Amino acid sequence: MLGERVTAALAELTPPVCAYLYDRAALRARAAAVRAALPPRSTLLYAVKANGHPEVVSTLAAATDGLEVASGGELALAVAAGAREIVFGGPAKTDAELRAAVGAGALVNVESAHELRRLALVAREAGVRIRVALRVNRATAGLTGSHRMTGTPTPFGIDERQLDGVLALAATLPSVRVTGFHLHAVSNNLDAGAYAGFVVDAVTWSVTTADRQRLPLEYVNVGGGLGVDYTGDGQFDLEVLRAGLAGVPESLPEGARLVFEPGRFLAAEAGWYAAEVLDLKQTHGRWFAVLRGGTHHFRLPAAWGYSHPFAVLPVERWPYPFARPELRDVAVDAVGELCTPRDVLTRGQRVARLRVGDVLVFGRVGAYGWDISHHDFLRHAHPEVVVI
Ligand SMILES: Cc1ncc(COP(=O)(O)O)c(C=O)c1O
Repeated sequence: MLGERVTAALAELTPPVCAYLYDRAALRARAAAVRAALPPRSTLLYAVKANGHPEVVSTLAAATDGLEVASGGELALAVAAGAREIVFGGPAKTDAELRAAVGAGALVNVESAHELRRLALVAREAGVRIRVALRVNRATAGLTGSHRMTGTPTPFGIDERQLDGVLALAATLPSVRVTGFHLHAVSNNLDAGAYAGFVVDAVTWSVTTADRQRLPLEYVNVGGGLGVDYTGDGQFDLEVLRAGLAGVPESLPEGARLVFEPGRFLAAEAGWYAAEVLDLKQTHGRWFAVLRGGTHHFRLPAAWGYSHPFAVLPVERWPYPFARPELRDVAVDAVGELCTPRDVLTRGQRVARLRVGDVLVFGRVGAYGWDISHHDFLRHAHPEVVVI
């Protein structure tokens, strides 16, 4: 799991080790692999919400066609990163954020009729005609994965049954130009064949709907959702995706493009979280490795209720004048420094040898790791962040 470059960078960390490490070459390689699987007339964006570290954002801005942002903060990051294209989504945009999106020349994925009216006003005041896509919560889901956002009651998008009304409204607003649809559906889908089926269906639906509405279709955004297997060796198979999407360009009208905005799949594998073992203890028959770190830095396993695997990085340094606590061939829980029994990253992983002072390294943490965590609970020092 740890390559030479990552191991070398981890060896440089100051004890007690607590760090995130991001690998720019891994980000670029992943973006290139995804790009190679997409059909002609595709646009590949990176969803900044997965990891907003400025160096991750600028690396992926350069390695993709642009960035998808979901707040004024992410928009500012995208502008600073020099993104070639910016798409602004999210269900709760303020007027200030809409103004910033107009100012940045972003395409806005509009979530409701009310938002459309506000955006039209902001664009009119700025003297521009802004490109938008209508985000639709379709009647059917069409895809499995976690966090289903469509085909089910959610705050995301315009209910398909209300779409005709919103398109009629848009026709009365000269400062907005509807270019197509945004159809992000789920997170973490691991079945590339099913994902390709979802994309094909999204294109067919968009073409039919645009035809019915006499809307010149320029843009079909299928969102993100390409999955990562955190607990096993499963892979979202890009070759299966490529084969499944081969016929898509023929079904797109001339001038239309297909937009993907993955976050997790681009960033997850390029991140590692390293935390030193501060103590080893047994209570009620169970072993715990207590870490300089925890769920306030990496919340995903606690949020999703799974055990995130780790590798043990042996550290020879031992500064104390007494014997070093050591475990051999037992199962341990990797737990954090917070005062709650829920601060658990891994349950019951077997270790051949583990000593106080060794470092546990968690891979695949480059997406929705630090960014979704409650950093300041208990006010421990933040982890070091190293970018290689
Ligand atoms: C609108 C939108 N686009 C893209 C993404 C990125 O999804 P993922 O990281 O699963 O690829 C999300 C994630 O929630 C989203 O809400």
